[in-house]
Amino acid sequence: MKVTVCGAAGGIGQALSLLLKTQLPAGSELSLYDVAPVVPGVAVDLSHIPTDVKVAGFGADDLAAALSGADIVIIPAGMPRKPGMDRADLFAVNAGIIKTLAEGIVANCPKALVGVITNPVNGTVPIVAEVFKKAGTYEANRVFGVTTLDVIRSETFIAELKGLSTSDVKVPVIGGHSGTTILPLLSQVEGVEFSQEEIDALTPRIQNAGTEVVMAKAGGGSATLSMGAAAARFCMSLVKGLQGEADVVDYAYVQGNTGDAEYFAQPVRLGKNGVEEYLSYGTLSAYEENAKNEMLATLNADIKEGVDFIA
Ligand code: 2OP
Repeated sequence: MKVTVCGAAGGIGQALSLLLKTQLPAGSELSLYDVAPVVPGVAVDLSHIPTDVKVAGFGADDLAAALSGADIVIIPAGMPRKPGMDRADLFAVNAGIIKTLAEGIVANCPKALVGVITNPVNGTVPIVAEVFKKAGTYEANRVFGVTTLDVIRSETFIAELKGLSTSDVKVPVIGGHSGTTILPLLSQVEGVEFSQEEIDALTPRIQNAGTEVVMAKAGGGSATLSMGAAAARFCMSLVKGLQGEADVVDYAYVQGNTGDAEYFAQPVRLGKNGVEEYLSYGTLSAYEENAKNEMLATLNADIKEGVDFIA
């Protein structure tokens, strides 16, 4: 198993790479790519951790070597948010970065499963898809926007609110990965009932949790550690799927089959080819149905921005 992290020297990239060094199956290769000159040092640093995962660092000129033969590519590369910015403000900078990396994947590992973290995810995933389409290598089942941070935040906040163990709380989150496009399905959290007041408070808290971190870091960036943990969790789902484990189900932003928008986070069954089956997100409450309908114009505009960038 070869996993390449593009943007491995940044805040998310380092946290993610640390977790992958300790969680990937023995015998795996972890390939760290970044334009920041510190990346060989990050690789040496991680290489001293005693696990049977081989780490190598690749700098700006070595994208091809970093990607060559990768089974999975996870992309946190790009500029993070500062206070006052929303994810869409990042588009201008990050769209070009994502395009370059997607072209690198086409040239060096066109069959890799690709997990995109770079914001705005609602628009960067369509950019990757459009680059792959142009090259004739696009397979929708291999391209994912990582929305796991919305899932783990939901698990944490609900466990805190209800006095439960986080391991007992499972929360479906659908839609996109920005503001109101993030839709936690509180009506489907097994064994937990919410009052309308709780739903009215929790839903926006989950949607704005990224901003909560941006404000708390006060100019020092956006979520890195929790995003690293979320991305590692999602990457390990991809790994388990590739290894043929049964019943690996996770939520991700994909070009799927919900009919809501061209790209939409939904549950998927993962396997040797990425998505093996697109699953239904089930029945929504009236509150969730309304929230979904209200977010679609924003999500569709975000998607169009990504598609237009390549067109
Ligand atoms: C967040 O939701 C950085 O997109 C990330 O905080």
